[in-house]
Amino acid sequence: MEKFLSRDARNFRPSAIRAFAKLINDPNIISFAGGVPSPETFPAERIAEIASRVIRENRAVALQYGPTRGLPRLCDFVAGVCRSRGIDCSAADVLMTTGSQQALDLIAHTLLDPGDVVLVELPTYIGGTSSFHARSAELAGVAQDDEGIVPESLAEVAARVKPKLLYTIPNFQNPSGRLMTQQRRAEVLRIAAESDFLVIEDDPYGELVYVRDADTLAMKSRDDDHRVIYLGSFSKVLAPGLRCGWIVAAPELLAKLEIAKQAADLCSGMLDQSIVDDFTAAGELPAQIEKVRGFYRAKRATMIESLEEHFSTRASWTPADGGLFTFVSLNDDIDTAALVPDAVAGGVAYIPGAPFFVDGSGRNTMRLTFAKENDERIREGIGRLAGILP
Ligand SMILES: Cc1ncc(COP(=O)(O)O)c(C=O)c1O
Repeated sequence: MEKFLSRDARNFRPSAIRAFAKLINDPNIISFAGGVPSPETFPAERIAEIASRVIRENRAVALQYGPTRGLPRLCDFVAGVCRSRGIDCSAADVLMTTGSQQALDLIAHTLLDPGDVVLVELPTYIGGTSSFHARSAELAGVAQDDEGIVPESLAEVAARVKPKLLYTIPNFQNPSGRLMTQQRRAEVLRIAAESDFLVIEDDPYGELVYVRDADTLAMKSRDDDHRVIYLGSFSKVLAPGLRCGWIVAAPELLAKLEIAKQAADLCSGMLDQSIVDDFTAAGELPAQIEKVRGFYRAKRATMIESLEEHFSTRASWTPADGGLFTFVSLNDDIDTAALVPDAVAGGVAYIPGAPFFVDGSGRNTMRLTFAKENDERIREGIGRLAGILP
């Protein structure tokens, strides 16, 4: 079969963390390994009611092919969401996608030739790197600290590798949980303009905020020269099974992405879009977002408290002021991947950090999610980890 594969297919990489994520299904294991929202946050009854209604009363839309750009009223709603994040846009600037994961694939397909270089944060989201690898791109890492991308590193790497794109997740990044400061966002855009590359701003976590003073204003809000391709998603605030994400980009690029999307799936699922459209048009999203924030805020507090109790002298971690993750750094000589079997035998699971670093670093790090377990199990699980990690 190998000889029939395309060049791109030869570069496909299986997700290095999916295997670990399987551990989340054993009830004896307290799992901080997942990367998914809690089903407890899904408004299932409302979704069931809406689904039944749109199927019965609006089958010519909900069960039919639809516009590639997306349901017009939903595009309009999404444009409003983006304006609330500081982005100057209207429905005509929006392309609905089958989750923001499809947005990453469409962008990679539309912009990347084999060998083109994409800059990614150290660490970064594996679904992003998969999309770029799948188009035979080369990846180069740029340093991140607690304020976000380190400008000196970005400038130095960009000068060296001449990238076409930077992929960044400024709000409560997966996996680091970090929030990039506004000053850093401005510096990143300045360097992008100087070195002339485009920026993918992936923002699925911006609404999951647990503190009062987090400034999540989009980078695209200061995008005077149309360099930023902004991605959003309903996955983390509503339900990821309703595959609804979106792209806001410059008109010429959006037109190309629309053609790429026609080739990929003609249109995103119309039933999914109809459900999200009905939910949002009824004005229910703000209350849903508040509910989701409340749900995670308490769990996040429990996890951070437990880390303080057990790890204050031997690790550091990100505050997780939003999103679903805290990222823990242990002593340099600890290899978290090698310790996974011990942790699992001890009844606790996490995701080792190295797969998130394209430069092979990060062996002493791990990603913990507070999304899945209840308070008691979070406390117990961090206690178990403390007994296992040296
Ligand atoms: C940073 C980031 N981008 C994109 C996605 C994909 O989300 P979706 O396709 O459900 O919108 C995820 C999912 O975990 C993510 O963490």
